[in-house]
Amino acid sequence: MKVLVVGSGAREHALVKSLLADSAVTQVVCAPGNAGIAEDCVRLSVDVADPQAVADLAERVAPDLVVIGPELPLVNGAADAVRARGFRCFGPSAEAALLEGSKAFAKQIMAAAEVPTARSVTCVGSDQVTEALDRFGAPYVVKDDGLAAGKGVVVTDDRDDAIAHARHCLVRGGQVVVEEYLDGPEISLFVLTDGTSAVPLLPAQDHKRVGDGDTGPNTGGMGAYTPLPWGPEDLVDQIMTHVAQPVIAEMAARGTPFSGVLYCGLALTRHGLRVVEFNARFGDPEIQAVLRLLASPISPLLTAVADGTLADCPPLAWRDGSAVCVVVAAQGYPGDVITGDPVTGIDRAEEVPGVSVVHAGTALQDGGVVTSGGRVLSVTAVGDDLAEALGRAYDGVARIDIRGSHYRHDIGSRAG
Ligand code: AMP
Ligand code: GLY
Repeated sequence: MKVLVVGSGAREHALVKSLLADSAVTQVVCAPGNAGIAEDCVRLSVDVADPQAVADLAERVAPDLVVIGPELPLVNGAADAVRARGFRCFGPSAEAALLEGSKAFAKQIMAAAEVPTARSVTCVGSDQVTEALDRFGAPYVVKDDGLAAGKGVVVTDDRDDAIAHARHCLVRGGQVVVEEYLDGPEISLFVLTDGTSAVPLLPAQDHKRVGDGDTGPNTGGMGAYTPLPWGPEDLVDQIMTHVAQPVIAEMAARGTPFSGVLYCGLALTRHGLRVVEFNARFGDPEIQAVLRLLASPISPLLTAVADGTLADCPPLAWRDGSAVCVVVAAQGYPGDVITGDPVTGIDRAEEVPGVSVVHAGTALQDGGVVTSGGRVLSVTAVGDDLAEALGRAYDGVARIDIRGSHYRHDIGSRAG
């Protein structure tokens, strides 16, 4: 089968690699891709924000399956546009993707489905914001209602900073969600669903702050590992029963079934599981690690989600051991980044046993790979256990050379 992957990050590069390793897949095309994706498959250009442009591309490529990676095209309706032209598509409708596209909507669904989450107030004005901040107390959590590319959430002890962020979001024209602070470790569970049936992948943990020891501002994610050796035995069952299944049922009951991957971001608080967020797509960098352990071929799974036949799929097969992903970021990330710097050492990194490097913010310039975004590379590694996987990943990272780049040195260090 021929598969078209839409997106340009490390998530999409990891999906491309998994699809290429699947014997049922004869061709992969990716748009708009990046320099690494261009080495692996046919790369075309597209404006991912424009649903009709994505659908036009599907007509040109004529794939058996379209996989839409990022949230922006999903929230804008790319999956609907592609399906309307008669193509099979992995990815939720715009109405279902609102679970990620609006924090206020996600809160409404959770309330209706009785899913545990932080208490919150959706505010439309500054007075409401200050009232809510004072009601919940510090640390303050203020969230832009809409998509904000990982920059919409501020968690701070400083009331003035919280108010300033809320004002900024309100000026952008939206609503803002103020909520209670959730303590405890965060985890990510990706649940494949065709709108009715649901199949969880392995749970993973991201590292959202830019600096070692969870310091500095939030990022899109600086590294991840899977599985979680410290997690309660019934963690996945609990999430399926109390979070994923009720949300999937609620979306179906409203006539807007969610089909694709429901990303459940949770905090394991001392009062139990609480949802931090939903996303309508795979998490980056978690999926780069999770896919390294998936032994089942990926195309039948994505196809079954798109066709509504997930219940007929055999149970997933997983490799033993652990997988990790360490993100190498450009100078300045998550602020303004310097682009156009040469990226070298990827081949040497991949000489380390178990290491595979996928690209995110890279471009080709004069035949060489250069930086073109904040998160440049994802260095992934597998090992018999977490320690071995981490040792290999960091060995790989040390062989990569990008001027001024940085990465976290403590991925997985709290897993013991
Ligand atoms: P979100 O976009 O909602 O996932 O928020 C981004 C990050 O902000 C999360 O991964 C958490 O690290 C942090 N965060 C969000 N909501 C809360 C909360 N209620 N309590 C503590 N931290 C939070
Ligand atoms: N890993 C965080 C995200 O993909 O949103």
